[in-house]
Amino acid sequence: MTLFDVYPLNNIAITKASGSYVWDENGVQYLDMYGGHAVISIGHTHPHWVDRIENQLEKIAFYSNSVIIPIQKELATKLGRLSGKESYQLFLCNSGAEANENALKLASFHNGRKKIVAFSKAFHGRTSLAVAVTDNPSIIAPVNETDNVAFLPFNDEAALKDHFAKHGNEISSVIIEGIQGVGGINIANDSFLQLIRELCNEYGAVFIADSVQCGYGRSGKFFSHDHAGVDADIYTMAKGMGNGFPVAGILIAPSIQSKHGMLGTTFGGNQLACAAALAVLEVIEEEKLINNAKENGEYLMDQLRSIEGLQNIRGRGLMIGFDVPPELKDLKKKLLFDFKIFTGEAKPNVIRLLPSLALTRRQIDDFIDSLEEAIEEIRDESLTQNA
Ligand SMILES: Cc1ncc(COP(=O)(O)O)c(C=O)c1O
Repeated sequence: MTLFDVYPLNNIAITKASGSYVWDENGVQYLDMYGGHAVISIGHTHPHWVDRIENQLEKIAFYSNSVIIPIQKELATKLGRLSGKESYQLFLCNSGAEANENALKLASFHNGRKKIVAFSKAFHGRTSLAVAVTDNPSIIAPVNETDNVAFLPFNDEAALKDHFAKHGNEISSVIIEGIQGVGGINIANDSFLQLIRELCNEYGAVFIADSVQCGYGRSGKFFSHDHAGVDADIYTMAKGMGNGFPVAGILIAPSIQSKHGMLGTTFGGNQLACAAALAVLEVIEEEKLINNAKENGEYLMDQLRSIEGLQNIRGRGLMIGFDVPPELKDLKKKLLFDFKIFTGEAKPNVIRLLPSLALTRRQIDDFIDSLEEAIEEIRDESLTQNA
């Protein structure tokens, strides 16, 4: 049997990982500035995370949501305290798309409406409704097409006001990433998020904060939407929540009432996933990783700004992007193959940095040195070619 070939792969097999480093099958070490796509929050194979999972595995890995699972309550309590959303309710599932799917569906159950507002360059996942609110026609199959979604320009307050004025009473929910990830590290303006809050209040729509990539401390606050000082009605979470163990969830405001059978999942909230998620929160708290993300993120952005050629450096905490001019188009590849550094990208010309929240100053300095050298080499190579 062959693998279904949907991923453009780098020809590297990673077989070991620790903290902010990974190693390939030949023992070559790489600095991970990509965090396996923003997933590695507390660092690869953190010893506390490994212990917690191993201990849980010896007790019980899984039983279905037909019985009380005390570790779910433990997780909810800890998550409420660390996120500052103690009055919210937690529903657990398995992936980011599933979290968004449940959030959009719950909003529709709550207000009985069908219409959704999403934004240009949004990415919310690949399942039916999540992909329908994703601004990328090439991944929307005919069966996922729907008239229920309106895409408005990101950060355009006039367009949002106008849309609500015309259709406000039909809108079920507004879904927005606090910082667009796949779209290229675009920060939602504070005033834009505040306007969404006001309009949702006025028209009875549900404000969904997709925090799958930008949440869980990555931006230097627990949720990136917190920078705007607003509370969403539903927060969706995944990537950093399990540090690589598949676990996701939604936080639901107290105004939204549950009903038996409304949402459900077989695997969501299993004991092993909850142990992994608790370990992540314990390390985030113990090692003050949200503050680390904030301070080291600012330091990293300052260093990037001193490098000639990189454009439009932007981000919050350890969710950072910059544009690469055409003459440096091979920078990402060069960093990976010649300098052994993983970075992320966004089409057409953005490099995304999504490292572990435990990234150190020394690792940042190493990265910056390599980045400068890589740029110099590309420039030298192009001079030689043109000579
Ligand atoms: C903002 C955002 N939402 C949702 C998703 C989908 O998450 P998953 O791949 O876990 O389904 C992603 C994945 O990249 C994402 O970045």
